[in-house]
Amino acid sequence: MAKPAGRLVPVQRDPVAEIMERLAGKDFLSLKDRYPGSTWHKYLNLPKFVPASVKYCEVLGLIDAAPQRILDIGCGTGLFLYCAHHFGHSGVGIDIETDLMAEMAAMLGVEREIERVAAFTPLHPRGKFNLIVCMGTQFDGANPSPIRRQWGLPDWNFFLADLLEQLTPDGRVFLRINRGREAKRAGRMYYNEHLAKALQHGHRGGIAYLFDREGLAVAVRNTAHRQ
Ligand SMILES: C[S@@+](CC[C@H](N)C(=O)[O-])C[C@H]1O[C@@H](n2cnc3c(N)ncnc32)[C@H](O)[C@@H]1O
Repeated sequence: MAKPAGRLVPVQRDPVAEIMERLAGKDFLSLKDRYPGSTWHKYLNLPKFVPASVKYCEVLGLIDAAPQRILDIGCGTGLFLYCAHHFGHSGVGIDIETDLMAEMAAMLGVEREIERVAAFTPLHPRGKFNLIVCMGTQFDGANPSPIRRQWGLPDWNFFLADLLEQLTPDGRVFLRINRGREAKRAGRMYYNEHLAKALQHGHRGGIAYLFDREGLAVAVRNTAHRQ
């Protein structure tokens, strides 16, 4: 009796494995020796951060999506953008660190520009984005420094209104606020209940928010009302 024709089983893609394989030839760990005093060594741990970045691509619906143009604010090493490129997207990152993370971004081939997010200062215009992400940043800073202070609602209002200007009509903003360990230890807050209330429209749990244009506009109105 003839065997039934075998059914074609779709090949399961494992993006984490694919990305790890593509990065295997690059000696990121050498950056540890080149920048021994850097506080960013933890970001060289690809087995930890590649799956995390792919997870964010998934959460943000970037896998198997039409190509999107992404702005990553406080992009660090650029690994998230690298993973987003893997899924067919493009983008640019901005950050203030010029040493280890800048070099890693260059090794990844990620476009990364030096720009400091500062209170009441619009971002340098770079055209419209389908997605703006801002993950683990704390512009107001845990470190006592004259140029860093805790942002209040007026600062957030300005920042969010500026982001709204840079979005395409279908654009989205993903914010994951860094609470700041040092701040928590010192009993200071980065993320107070007024801000939480103002942002609640985009709440995704914990300290993460995902806004479409409408949700972001609500957050802008809410932060303005509470000033
Ligand atoms: C905790 S790291 C997060 C990096 C990356 N977004 C991630 O999720 O892995 C915070 C990043 O924000 C950057 N950063 C801090 N303050 C900034 C500012 N005012 N403007 C732009 N980037 C800033 C830091 O240099 C650092 O790369």
